[in-house]
Amino acid sequence: MSDTRQGRTYEIVLWGATGFTGKLTAEYLARHAPEDLRWAIAGRNRQKLEATRAELAAIAPRFAELPILEGDSHDRASLARIASETAVVCTTVGPYMTYGKTLVEVCAEAGTSYCDLTGETPFIREMLDLHHATAKSTGARIVHCCGYDSIPSDLGTFMMQEAAIERFGRPCRIVKNYIGRTKGGLSGGTAASMLTIMEAAQDKAVRRVLGHPYGLNPKGERKGPDGSDPKGVSYDPEIPCFTAPFVMAAINTRVVRRTNALLEFRYGRAFEYVEKMMLPYSPKGLALATGISAGITGLVVGLAVPPIRNLIRERYLPAPGEGPSREERERGYFNHHLFGSVETKDGAAAFLRGKVVGVNDPGYGETAKMLSESALCLARDPLTSEGGVLTPAVAMGPQLLDRLRRAGMTFEVR
Ligand SMILES: NC(=O)c1ccc[n+]([C@@H]2O[C@H](COP(=O)([O-])OP(=O)(O)OC[C@H]3O[C@@H](n4cnc5c(N)ncnc54)[C@H](OP(=O)(O)O)[C@@H]3O)[C@@H](O)[C@H]2O)c1
Repeated sequence: MSDTRQGRTYEIVLWGATGFTGKLTAEYLARHAPEDLRWAIAGRNRQKLEATRAELAAIAPRFAELPILEGDSHDRASLARIASETAVVCTTVGPYMTYGKTLVEVCAEAGTSYCDLTGETPFIREMLDLHHATAKSTGARIVHCCGYDSIPSDLGTFMMQEAAIERFGRPCRIVKNYIGRTKGGLSGGTAASMLTIMEAAQDKAVRRVLGHPYGLNPKGERKGPDGSDPKGVSYDPEIPCFTAPFVMAAINTRVVRRTNALLEFRYGRAFEYVEKMMLPYSPKGLALATGISAGITGLVVGLAVPPIRNLIRERYLPAPGEGPSREERERGYFNHHLFGSVETKDGAAAFLRGKVVGVNDPGYGETAKMLSESALCLARDPLTSEGGVLTPAVAMGPQLLDRLRRAGMTFEVR
């Protein structure tokens, strides 16, 4: 176990083990964590926690004795107690803007490392403004975005840049992360988080954070060559392909840019990063790109209008605790194609291609894997990063890449 957290009762506490993604994460840890891992499940409802534990005991009888900790997101003392008893808190309790703030605060203060699944930019911005300095001083590694947003983008770019530096002595000046064939579902908590952001976006200050391409960078470093998120359909002659906006780019691009800043601009100050959906260069591809682009615009406009938002919530979105079935999750997958351009020392252009592939539903099957491996990495691996409000690549880059490859994900550079 790492540094200041030696001697704590647990290595990992899973907070929110009764929710849809929380149960998947508990199941992943039960199936894949080392047998000697000291961990506990935690949440607000003992009966539900006991039901989760009974499901784990069906995987292996030893989990019948798995410790249960109780608390509530709105009860600071209960969260502080949990944070003081463990090296790492792994949390699936969201929307994080509603339920997540005090937990980050108590972990930063207690020197307890932390990983979550948030994709809520305004929440992350508030956490880094309030707690980065404390976490740095206590050694707590606070790592947001350890699910489908934003590990494939953040670690995928990190992998491309490490390969470029090794091969050419310098990083890619541009990385394009194009999302290819992808299939996945939606859970109640993710739907609630989307709606929470749309509601928060009524506030002008929140809209400014959401729209800022460098909105998660440290103060004084919030500028660079990238502009606002691309809108509409475009044609990329270098691939060649059509592109459409990708819904998660609004968070993933900010995380990748924060990584560059926290790594003291290892990717360069001129580094450009773009993330979009990639469609075939064909009439069908153009039609698909146009449909995706119009659908995203329609959804954003619809969710911004309260009566339409309520209608969508009531009629079309899953309730808390609901999500894609096991069969649906097993039919899911994602494919990210990465294209890097390097300006070599002799002035020539060089290109790198990479891919990141997941073989299960991105938001649930693969997310439970990415979150659990992040928690295990924080608890067990010899990390060299300092404390602070970090990104996955900054906190755990090479070690987490190794873990996810061993866990069956593809991270590959050609
Ligand atoms: N980044 C990604 O790729 C990704 C993927 C999946 C999910 N997520 C995020 O993960 C979060 C959870 O999603 P989900 O669908 O799993 O949600 P969910 O099924 O609704 O689960 C929410 C969990 O929060 C707990 N909770 C709610 N209020 C609480 C309180 N006051 N104190 C303590 N615990 C409380 C619930 O406990 P009870 O069971 O007692 O109600 C439950 O365990 C969302 O924010 C979602 O956006 C992100």
